Amino acid sequence: MYFYGTPYSDPADPLIAATYAMLAAEAKGLGSCLLGGIHPFIQQGRGARRFRGKWGIRYPSREGIFLALGYPAVEYKQAIKRTFAHIDFP
Ligand SMILES: Cc1cc2nc3c(=O)[nH]c(=O)nc-3n(C[C@H](O)[C@H](O)[C@H](O)COP(=O)(O)O)c2cc1C
Repeated sequence: MYFYGTPYSDPADPLIAATYAMLAAEAKGLGSCLLGGIHPFIQQGRGARRFRGKWGIRYPSREGIFLALGYPAVEYKQAIKRTFAHIDFP
């Protein structure tokens, strides 16, 4: 799935929608992966316009994000322990 904005939307809109879609997919047992690396390459130039035309993408937009979905091949028993890079209390 590709979430992107219209000329009138807030740049945060597609990212919020994609996040909810990711949570809904995970709740249904699907695997998901957010991909921000594609969006910048389909904004400017002839190739980008052709790509958008081929896939029915209506507008170029400031922010956008892909969400890959699939049936997970493995079942995790434990999550990775994560830490924030920095937490500052000024
Ligand atoms: C907003 C956002 C954009 C991302 N974009 C990419 C991307 O373009 N390419 C990529 O390989 N991983 C990207 N990632 C990382 C993966 O979506 C995923 O978070 C990472 O593989 C860690 O997976 P895990 O959280 O299940 O361990 C992005 C993550 C976020 C949150």
